[in-house]
Amino acid sequence: MTHAIAVAHPNIALAKYWGKREHGRNLPSVPSLSITLAGMTTTTRVELAAMDTLELNGVATVGRACERAVALLDLIWQEAGRERQHEGQGEGQGEGERPRLRIVSHNDFPTSAGLASSASAFAALAVAANAVLATGHSTERLSSLARRISASAGRSLYGGFVELPAGGDEAEPLFARPLAAVDHWPLRLVVAVTTETEKEVGSTEGMNATSRTSPLYAGWLAAAPDIFARIRAAVLARDLETVGLAVEESALTMHATALAAQPGILYWNGATVEVMHAVRRLRRQGLPAYFTIDAGPHVKVLTLASHAAAVTTEIAAIPGVLRTISAEPGEGARLIEASGTEPAEGARLIEPSGAEPGA
Ligand code: DP6
Repeated sequence: MTHAIAVAHPNIALAKYWGKREHGRNLPSVPSLSITLAGMTTTTRVELAAMDTLELNGVATVGRACERAVALLDLIWQEAGRERQHEGQGEGQGEGERPRLRIVSHNDFPTSAGLASSASAFAALAVAANAVLATGHSTERLSSLARRISASAGRSLYGGFVELPAGGDEAEPLFARPLAAVDHWPLRLVVAVTTETEKEVGSTEGMNATSRTSPLYAGWLAAAPDIFARIRAAVLARDLETVGLAVEESALTMHATALAAQPGILYWNGATVEVMHAVRRLRRQGLPAYFTIDAGPHVKVLTLASHAAAVTTEIAAIPGVLRTISAEPGEGARLIEASGTEPAEGARLIEPSGAEPGA
């Protein structure tokens, strides 16, 4: 196979991951639970090439984004070699030098602005590279490998409602697990976009500074598993009020921890705060709406599909809200094209709409 194209969607955590275990391998220190979202898509094309390169939204990219992409390719290849050895198989994938790949990735939503673009990026790359390198990893294994590069990416391998346990002492491989399918519950997340610029402090940097310097970090570690458990049970029971209140608790506790770092990490702008107040006002007026915020200034408002239009109208009118995106639960990462082979079982082929995918 010479090329493959995969798509993946970002996910928004209802129960936040913030902080890593100290012994490396990017193991989260708290369990998290997310919704994979349709309506925002990363499309990634991978092809055999003379050297590894990354083109992101039309721009040749070097530096950390490229290093992380190459690190994922290496993990995918090395893991195949380890599995062959373990199973006593002969020579094959994962041995010798890894074939070099050209990666062309495109997001149809803002990159690096708290919309979890790295999650969909590494999930799509894992699926496309697994096809071109013919490494044959399971979705579970790809989730664990993507999680090593960016923990939230491990969740975007799956659709619907997805959980990622905290890492234990021996917790390798640690992978995300599907909790409930896309059609489990007709929820919507209305994203209030409050800036089009890139965030100043990335999530990795922000959570590492928090765990190193925030006096509130121990409190977060103590509180997060219980918040997660309440959200998990209430998602399964489709109890929006319990989910929503705990979702706000998770986000506010995470941000309080980050605010108390030295120096304090402040992801919010004025519009972020206005939207939080507006959401609570809407609730007092009887609309089911609950907010969550990631490592950026956008606010994601959780509501029922039946109320999404009303919530969108209210949120879009708030000064400082540039635009809104209404997202529903979506599918996990999947292959949409692979040269010389039929797409993997379960993969949905999408019609190219306008621009060449990944161009
Ligand atoms: C606030 O998964 O981006 O979005 O593992 O260091 O790459 P790394 O971090 P990342 O962190 C996501 C943080 C969050 C909450 C969440 O998605 O759970």
